[in-house]
Amino acid sequence: MSGGTLIVGASQAGLQLAVSLRQLGDTEPITLVGEEVHPPYQRPPLSKDFLAGETDPESLALRAPSYYADAAIDLVSGECVTEVALSPSGPPGSGTATTSSGRGFAFDRLALTVGAGPRRLAVPGAELDGVRYLRDRDDAAALRQHLGSASRVVVVGGGFIGLEAAAVARALGKDVTVVEAADRLISRAVAPVVSEFYLRAHLRRGTRVLLSAGVAGFEGVQGRVTGVRLGDGTTLPADLVLVGVGVLPRTELARRLGLECDRGIVVDGRARTSDPHIVAAGDCTVQPHPVTGLGRVRLESVQNAVAQATAAAASLLGRPAPQPAVPWFWSYQGDLKLQIAGLSGGYDQHVVRGEPDSERFSVLYYRQGELLAIDAVNSPADYMAVRKALAQGATVPAGAAGDHGTPLKSLLTARPAAVPSS
Ligand code: APR
Repeated sequence: MSGGTLIVGASQAGLQLAVSLRQLGDTEPITLVGEEVHPPYQRPPLSKDFLAGETDPESLALRAPSYYADAAIDLVSGECVTEVALSPSGPPGSGTATTSSGRGFAFDRLALTVGAGPRRLAVPGAELDGVRYLRDRDDAAALRQHLGSASRVVVVGGGFIGLEAAAVARALGKDVTVVEAADRLISRAVAPVVSEFYLRAHLRRGTRVLLSAGVAGFEGVQGRVTGVRLGDGTTLPADLVLVGVGVLPRTELARRLGLECDRGIVVDGRARTSDPHIVAAGDCTVQPHPVTGLGRVRLESVQNAVAQATAAAASLLGRPAPQPAVPWFWSYQGDLKLQIAGLSGGYDQHVVRGEPDSERFSVLYYRQGELLAIDAVNSPADYMAVRKALAQGATVPAGAAGDHGTPLKSLLTARPAAVPSS
């Protein structure tokens, strides 16, 4: 191939970038290279319906097989880009890339949508059969198969992946224990009141949860895991272990290109890296806080991958930036449907609507009286109302939000003018 746009990484962000380029009228060649053999597919079901055996692999595909040829997107699957170099004499942003199998690609424009990989636990026994991670389709298919014959499942990490998978395993009747290092569940993303709810809800369903618990190693017999040794010396019997302890953004190629990285590839609000001719989007990036503009955040979500990729396409073509989008996210843990709109980080007040133990409630977050976000459990109307408020620059007064009898959408008001701090 020569010229055109090279997109490295063929998942949600990479595909969206290609789609957006075409939607913006770009007629130049587009090459989308991905190391997985599967065409771009949805990841969220992997720890939910797909793991439960309720979804077949074909239905995960983000586009019909014919889409790529129809849109003149050259999808190269099963190839890992290992080298990228900019041309010292060519137009800015042009260069060449090479894959591990030795294929070469020349490009005029480069986009990095390389995602993140699961953080590995470096403890004795980590290589034992039956110690698994969950990030891609093959991981999920193997885990699903293993789950069929497993009886005692230990999940290391009480974040989104761990709890979603734990809910699936428990619903299949497995004996399930979640081992979480922090003193509460999902601490990266939700407030203590929501963590407490999830603890109680999983306990109610018969899952054991150990908080503030460290993993010292995995024990095995004949190469197969038989238990998880905790920091306090106790051993939990296990014939299947799922480790879900967070992800690490893939920054190797960006570093090789000399791009600024800071716990992710640093991009601006228009998905431009420190070399403005190169864009990056999705889980591999850190960006200015999309709501406050204060500090950098890494957003691991489908919504962010799509929004950033759309902005990246506009940047590559020199078009105006799209409107900033309200961040949103979901986590379905069995019958517990968590929907998040906005970003709650930095909140100084929260209002709980409804009774958490009814398993239908929501939490609204504020800073200095300003609405930041909502976590809604089995409360889609609350979620939609806040998402709409944030998109419209409206608010829900904190004093009224706790009245569960009044629909939130009827409480939406224009944002009050900022009050000078004393
Ligand atoms: N032992 C036990 N728990 C640990 C350890 C450890 N050694 N190290 C970290 N943890 C815990 C963290 O405290 C956290 O609660 O693992 C959890 C990881 O949670 P997340 O950060 O939510 O990451 P994960 O669940 O792996 O999800 C990864 O998948 O669904 C997506 O959006 C999700 O992008 C996220 C990704």
